[in-house]
Amino acid sequence: MVSTHPIRVEQSGSQYISQDVNSHTSPNQQLLPLTARVNQDDHLEIGGCDVKALVEKFGSPLYILDEQTLRTTCRQYRDRFQQYYPGESQVLYASKAWSCLAVCAIAHSEGLGIDVVSGGELYTALQAGVKPEVIYFHGNNKSLEELKLGIESGCNIVADNWHELQMLVELGQQAQAPIPVMLRLTPGIECHTHEYIRTGHLDSKFGFDPNELDDVFAFVRDNPVLNCIGLHAHIGSQIFERQPHRDLAAVMVEWLSKAASFGLHVGELNVGGGLGIKYTETDDPPSIAEWVKPICEVVQAACEAENLPLPKLLSEPGRSLIGTACVTAYTVGSSKTVPDIRTYVAVDGGMSDNPRPITYQSVYRAVVANKMSVPATETVTVAGKHCESGDVVIKNAQLPPTQAGDILVVLATGAYNYSMASNYNRLPRPAAVLVADGEANVILRRETYQELIANDNLPEKLLQR
Ligand code: LLP
Repeated sequence: MVSTHPIRVEQSGSQYISQDVNSHTSPNQQLLPLTARVNQDDHLEIGGCDVKALVEKFGSPLYILDEQTLRTTCRQYRDRFQQYYPGESQVLYASKAWSCLAVCAIAHSEGLGIDVVSGGELYTALQAGVKPEVIYFHGNNKSLEELKLGIESGCNIVADNWHELQMLVELGQQAQAPIPVMLRLTPGIECHTHEYIRTGHLDSKFGFDPNELDDVFAFVRDNPVLNCIGLHAHIGSQIFERQPHRDLAAVMVEWLSKAASFGLHVGELNVGGGLGIKYTETDDPPSIAEWVKPICEVVQAACEAENLPLPKLLSEPGRSLIGTACVTAYTVGSSKTVPDIRTYVAVDGGMSDNPRPITYQSVYRAVVANKMSVPATETVTVAGKHCESGDVVIKNAQLPPTQAGDILVVLATGAYNYSMASNYNRLPRPAAVLVADGEANVILRRETYQELIANDNLPEKLLQR
């Protein structure tokens, strides 16, 4: 039963998260999925499902994906573009954030297309029933086989470099119709985010340098097997600033105008993704509307100023679509107090199911799902179970006193957790369930030990006789 107990949690005192579930903010500005509640047993509930009961049924660790939150962000993006942009628009889900059949199918059912960056992501989107016309295939080093798969499937190819353009021309000579190609350009726009997830500055492995624009446009114009449908740029991820995307929109319209001077009538502009989400109470990202509106305004005003028809406006958010929709539930095991230094509380996962803390020093928040109203009086370090000292999920987490068997839930793990998960130390990857209206459906089965060795091969000479 859904409780009326709102989640009101402070830094210290009662547990962490504080969320006004009736507020008009976007999910990306909240720490918890929209359906999070505390039930009569003082347990966290998501999508009408008791989190402790989910772990009992589906095992631990467990990714729990809230369908309502995911659908809400999809709709917010789609509707805000329709509201603020007078031309046509298309939102694509950047499936690198979490690529699996169910997630692609949900995004597509909300009218979104899919951005893929590998043959594997493309295959997943196609198998999920996504129409190829709304699949855009990125990547700075697509193989010939991947390009062939992309062309045969009928999706749009985002050409990243000269090597690829040349391969596309060769492939185009055997194709029935011109290949729909977007050009990815590097805008030279800096934004403040982690160095590894910045992509728009000039020293980037992605995209054509804007100084090469004349040559690129001339090449595409002179090769009729290529149909240049649009221009693309992406400046980075987990961005809170608003100016970089305004600048990007303006620069991209200048490119459009230059393309027109080459006789190329480029109909689509894709401004990428990058909107950040709230991982801690001090993070303050713009809402989806606050991100979409200025982009639409700048593109519209710049096109009017340049006397250009409005292009179809594409965007491809990943993190802000799915990040807040998922939490990861772990079971607490051992703990260790190092006197005068810290207490470690270990959980049954870690860097294999969430490599973000060790990779980017990302900070997360957690609650204890079976003790929601117990005050967070302890400061502990939540450690993973991997054979690596750096395998820390959260440093200095504020939690209620914990004991073995408690269910620790790390928030906002929807983006770049499962998709970057590994089998380090041969841990099977966790299961994922989709929760909605009190029902939980498995969308990713937990890996088994047999699956872990499924691709191993023991050469004859090593067999123990
Ligand atoms: N489009 C392109 C071309 C991208 O490279 C990316 C992200 C996106 C869209 C989606 O960006 P988003 O809306 O999710 O910020 N693993 C890192 C993030 C890497 C992002 C890579 N590209 C992390 O865990 O923070």
